[in-house]
Amino acid sequence: KSLESKPMTRQTIFITGAASGIGRATALQFHARGWFVGAADVDQAGLDVLKGDLDNDCFTAFLDVTDKAAFDQVMIDFGTAAGQRLDILFNNAGIAVFGFLDEVPFEKTLATVNVNLIGVLNGIHASIHLLKQTPNALCFTTSSSAANFGSPGMATYSATKVAVKGLTEAMSVELARFGARAADVSPGIIDTPLWQTGARFVRGESRPVWNLPALNHDREDAGRTLPADDVAECVWAAYIGEKLHWYVPPEVVERDKAKALNPEKLRDQLIAQQKK
Ligand code: NAI
Repeated sequence: KSLESKPMTRQTIFITGAASGIGRATALQFHARGWFVGAADVDQAGLDVLKGDLDNDCFTAFLDVTDKAAFDQVMIDFGTAAGQRLDILFNNAGIAVFGFLDEVPFEKTLATVNVNLIGVLNGIHASIHLLKQTPNALCFTTSSSAANFGSPGMATYSATKVAVKGLTEAMSVELARFGARAADVSPGIIDTPLWQTGARFVRGESRPVWNLPALNHDREDAGRTLPADDVAECVWAAYIGEKLHWYVPPEVVERDKAKALNPEKLRDQLIAQQKK
């Protein structure tokens, strides 16, 4: 038998957006647990650094998650490298674009949908054959606290993250046909390069993004700043746990509950804040 058809005894995780932030922290943690890591990103330099940090013991691929044909090919290649085993698919790549909907260039709005939602659909569709054949596999996706209540100033971003949660719920039922699972995580404010690389627009003009991790440094509530490692630990908790929606920090769930009770109250509070 060729090496390629040898069954993989190591557990495997495939991560998009793995060159930076939450994806990178997850790659490092799962590698330290002995897992075989597949890392994909559009940032080749960041992937090269990660590969070195994982002692070359990983699979890396330059991949734009919006390109379905490329995603299909990468999952074929990963399947070969990973012995046709995928214990966790971590659809994590995402971009943040801030600004009022009418002030953000429309192509940036569409790019947000393409990466944060279409990219997740592409990932699930390209990987589902591996999830089906791996016992207890988990389809895991990064949502956001911005999905608690549609977030003014990042309307499209939050809409994609709400969609991710709906997709997770449906997939958690559909995947049960094969003994596989689905879950997602809604992080609050996580200290990652996203806060430097994100985009913000005022009346169509580009502005620097607020550095919320730095600004929120002294907060102790659900908006406090946490490291990417905390979300990576949540990926593990989700794998060994059973919950559908995870929150980092756990208090982020409180806003979901407030919305369920009284969405108009939340809306009116946000309108009042906006007027100040
Ligand atoms: P990050 O910017 O550090 O990492 C995101 C990675 O995704 C980057 O390496 C980037 O090159 C990659 N990426 C972007 N577009 C891509 C594409 N088309 N194809 C493949 N890779 C692509 O950001 P972070 O914070 O680690 O973000 C990870 C996820 O967490 C995102 O989905 C983000 O929306 C979500 N999130 C982040 C929060 C935060 O406070 N940092 C809070 C809530 C959710």
